[in-house]
Amino acid sequence: MAKLNNFEMIIGSNSYRPIMIGGMGVNISTAALALGAAKLGGVGHISDAMSPFLNDMLFGTRYQANKQKETRAQEKIDPKYISRWTEDIVYRANRDYVASVMAHKKGEGGIFVNVMEKLTMGAPSETLQARLRGALDGGIDGITLSAGLHNASLRLIEDHPRFRDAHIGVIISSLRALKIFLRGASRVNRLPSYIVVEGPLAGGHLGFGEDWHRFSLNLIVEEVISYLRSEDLNIPVIPAGGVFTGTDAVNFINMGAAGVQVATRFTISQECGLPTEAKQIYLRAEEKDVEVNCSSPTGYPMRMLKSSPSLGSNLKPSCASLGYMLDREGNCSYKDLYEKTPVDAQGKKLPIYEKMCICQHFMRLQCYTCGHNVYRLKDTTIMLPDGSFYLPPMEHIFKDYLNSEDQSVELPVGNTDQSPQQASNG
Ligand SMILES: Cc1cc2nc3c(=O)[nH]c(=O)nc-3n(C[C@H](O)[C@H](O)[C@H](O)COP(=O)(O)O)c2cc1C
Repeated sequence: MAKLNNFEMIIGSNSYRPIMIGGMGVNISTAALALGAAKLGGVGHISDAMSPFLNDMLFGTRYQANKQKETRAQEKIDPKYISRWTEDIVYRANRDYVASVMAHKKGEGGIFVNVMEKLTMGAPSETLQARLRGALDGGIDGITLSAGLHNASLRLIEDHPRFRDAHIGVIISSLRALKIFLRGASRVNRLPSYIVVEGPLAGGHLGFGEDWHRFSLNLIVEEVISYLRSEDLNIPVIPAGGVFTGTDAVNFINMGAAGVQVATRFTISQECGLPTEAKQIYLRAEEKDVEVNCSSPTGYPMRMLKSSPSLGSNLKPSCASLGYMLDREGNCSYKDLYEKTPVDAQGKKLPIYEKMCICQHFMRLQCYTCGHNVYRLKDTTIMLPDGSFYLPPMEHIFKDYLNSEDQSVELPVGNTDQSPQQASNG
């Protein structure tokens, strides 16, 4: 049987290795991970989720502190004041973050940015437009539109000089969602450069309801490919969600896919932004430790480890400085729930299980979102003498996908002296 290494993934005029590492916000798919994929000829994603926070952390800007100050001042004048991100700040944050990553790019691969529509920031379409424009002006190779139907997103950048030459793809989980996107795309005469079909076993937010287990990635991919053929549309299809080995990937390529998008295997890489302890928790996970729940205020179900510190927490929302999930009216389902939650005898808020403060928990990397196959990660690396697992470099995982045969996974040789602290740059 052929190896993944025997194929190439053509997107527009570019030829890539057929592996896309999916976007993992906030800064779980780090610049180092994306740059590593590009250097090896594949496609790596950064994520623009909470880019003002990322700028503050990486470049010492004070976007969040200034927003908080401004909001507090305005609230004194008008107690109903809604804390919003302004377009100019969001634009600059995205542009500068993207430009800083692109400046380090080496190799023939691509750096794409994952842009979630559900990140509403108090002004959904204005900030989405600023994010997209910032990414294009920062020199990004491609934009992957995710977490939403994006039926009007292309229109927001229709007049941008890079609108037709940058790759712009979309993540969908059903043919129905694809058709909605294509209707919007036809209004600006711009087909997607690629289509990521994300199935029910993926990490992050799911494009399925709580009945996700009734769906199959294979069937959705078949349906999408046969629809595109029937419409004479030649758009690369990239399945995602549960693609654990190169053999899984080759099976999809044999069905007509151009490549695959993967993420969970890379969560334990040295370059991944999760803290080392979280990587070890992922590695120790069993299948029973994983659940799909509705704690995300986006309204989409999300897969995560049951031990995520984000579950059952009662953090006071910090919308004045963060507020990435606020809708135009200043609502967020966690904030609303927090306000209604009673306090205990000591005056302390009771734990909240239904929703989480996604801004604070993602900022602190305390939501352990993962693909269904997280419990198989322990079979992809070696155990160190102290009982912890070796964290492989991303290059090892990337090459293992390329060279896998008959579902094989090559274990890293590993440095058995690696302590968890040395093992991560997260
Ligand atoms: C830790 C983690 C965070 C993720 N965050 C995002 C995200 O911010 N945006 C998004 O579109 N997808 C996100 N995903 C989904 C991945 O990009 C990818 O499509 C999917 O997880 C692939 O399935 P796999 O993890 O089984 O390989 C995330 C996945 C993981 C594991």
